[in-house]
Amino acid sequence: HGPDSEWAEEVRALARKRDAVILAHNYQVPEVQDVADHVGDSLALSRIAASSDASTIVFCGVHFMAETAKILAPEKTVLIPDERAGCSLADSITADQLREWKAEHPGAVVVSYVNTTAAVKAETDICCTSSNAVEVVDSIPREKEVLFLPDQFLGAHVRRELGRENMQVWAGECHVHAGISGTQLTAQAEADPDAELFVHPECGCATSALYLAGTGAVPADRVKILSTGGMLDAARATGAKSVLVATEIGMLHQLRKAAPDVDFRAVNERASCTYMKMITPEALLRSVRDGTDEVHVAPELAERGRAAVQRMIEIGQ
Ligand code: 13P
Ligand code: SF4
Repeated sequence: HGPDSEWAEEVRALARKRDAVILAHNYQVPEVQDVADHVGDSLALSRIAASSDASTIVFCGVHFMAETAKILAPEKTVLIPDERAGCSLADSITADQLREWKAEHPGAVVVSYVNTTAAVKAETDICCTSSNAVEVVDSIPREKEVLFLPDQFLGAHVRRELGRENMQVWAGECHVHAGISGTQLTAQAEADPDAELFVHPECGCATSALYLAGTGAVPADRVKILSTGGMLDAARATGAKSVLVATEIGMLHQLRKAAPDVDFRAVNERASCTYMKMITPEALLRSVRDGTDEVHVAPELAERGRAAVQRMIEIGQ
């Protein structure tokens, strides 16, 4: 299934015939990343979905990402190669739970991570991704209370960066990132004191990484809390020989392509998202050939969520 294989040629030819653009998240399997027209983080892919001229988007990622594309581009056909590709983080809050939370905090501004269902986005004021969460919350007047959901570790990161007290954070988490522990990170950082640390803010170990920087165990300028897109920019700029990477392991493929001389190592090699990996090369071929699985968002929900998603793609780099 290499980039020049018969499979890849067939996928590209069928996509052309359908006037489809293929987008792949950084956590996809290498074959899918290599055949895609664009690979990126959730913010970059949402922006491409909103501005693409293609009449069909084939979204190789998880369901909330394809839904976000559909909200931004309702006139386009959006396909996901396997609609069962969900997200444990998006499942950690329902629209009913959010409505109850809002009722307890009248007047608060709701900031939802893009990893949420369309029904939750419909109850949201501004969406964000890990690339721009800090800027999004910072755009809200200081005197306003903020409800941030659903990821507790990203929420803690934003609160720490901005020193913002009037910010409530939902206690959700991604099982893949929460499973990358501070103990693993500390042991590996101690074994390779010259390594840089790239840590996704959804990780349970983000606090340990900052603790290591705070105590001087790892020089503070070697500890970087970054979105997947931010990791790629940092990889191109790094002077380090080795980098410890705390995020889903699909990320290593783009990092190694961006900086082939650097030794990138996963902090937890088993941190693999089964949902992301449901988008197999076979499923992608089936999708461009048969038009499966089409993503629908109820127009009423899409309309209510659109402003929040549009604000998200306007804020930050
Ligand atoms: P980003 O690509 O925005 O960093 O998102 C990470 C993620 O977990 C998506 O599911
Ligand atoms: Fe969701 Fe976590 Fe998988 Fe990302 S890695 S899609 S947040 S379950």
